Amino acid sequence: MTNQDFILRSYNSNIENGHVKWSSPSNIALIKYWGKREHQIPENPSISFTLSNCKTITEVTYTKKGDKDFSFDVYFEGEKNEAFKPKIQTFFERIESYMPFLRDYHFKIETSNTFPHSSGIASSASGMSALALCLMSIEEDLGIDYADDYFNKKASFLARLGSGSACRSVEGELVVWGQNESTESSDLYGVKFQGDVHSNFKNYQDTILLVDKGEKQVSSTVGHKLMFGHPFAKERFAQAHSNLAKLKDILASGDLKAFIKIVESEALTLHAMMMTSMPYFILMKSNTLQIINELWNYRAENDSNVCFTLDAGANVHVLYPADEKEAVLNFIKKELTKYCQNGHYICDYTGLGANQIED
Ligand code: DP6
Repeated sequence: MTNQDFILRSYNSNIENGHVKWSSPSNIALIKYWGKREHQIPENPSISFTLSNCKTITEVTYTKKGDKDFSFDVYFEGEKNEAFKPKIQTFFERIESYMPFLRDYHFKIETSNTFPHSSGIASSASGMSALALCLMSIEEDLGIDYADDYFNKKASFLARLGSGSACRSVEGELVVWGQNESTESSDLYGVKFQGDVHSNFKNYQDTILLVDKGEKQVSSTVGHKLMFGHPFAKERFAQAHSNLAKLKDILASGDLKAFIKIVESEALTLHAMMMTSMPYFILMKSNTLQIINELWNYRAENDSNVCFTLDAGANVHVLYPADEKEAVLNFIKKELTKYCQNGHYICDYTGLGANQIED
């Protein structure tokens, strides 16, 4: 499909008002998206586990208006929020050619997260996907009845224009984004992973250790830009393709040891790219490294299949198979919470994607 396939050509312009509500989860990348071209096109393919508990719930109330400017208010956890407006304004500008009704209505956007706001967890994936899904439901309210497949594709397409990783949150449990030779996918939207998935990866656990809840010094958007002219960019993008091909086979065979190698290498490579950018920067904290070392010791001593991944921050995602849940949680509580800010961590696991909330 191309951009053209996502343009809404005609709609019922007599609808005065309505409201829609969606809940959409966060996701954690196994192969990392880091580097993008214009229009949110990724430089390399990525694949992620969709999560279950870390979600954004967004309700949009729309009311017909007379003028042709964008008009919206944002409420975050019940309070009017001005800080989110510029990002949503940019999002509307990027998607308006696909949704010509955006200037016809005033939108009241009410949003909240199931995870604490100041947890250092990026809410852009769940937030932008929840908003994109709400806008798709409005499109349906305006008289268009979409097949699920098209609905999900366009929701993911729009979410990508809000934040790249958000396009991987619409469905679950594994979603690929970015053209590649090994799996069915697209640069324009995320696609549910079509390969075989061994039962070892069912209900995979992700415990997020909140090492640093503060604002990041360098945003992902700035980090992505630093991949332009990066000395290792070409090799990194090629590596993501070959890691995805390997991971596809690993997901089918259930080889947990091989899974660990790819996933941890991807996490460290992501941070290596940051450390070798110009300007260079470090998002890991000393407690991030303490956790990694403790986790490696635990794995060696217990012949465990626990591993870690990182997103663009200091928090550590501890990934492990469902049958190790009790043992790993005990280990986390006993040995790792001391490295977490205020001892905080969040228990999550793989999920099936976003849900519409009817009320
Ligand atoms: C490190 O999706 O937050 O989490 O497209 O600029 O909004 P923008 O960036 P974003 O980048 C996420 C990068 C990552 C890796 C990943 O999720 O694949």
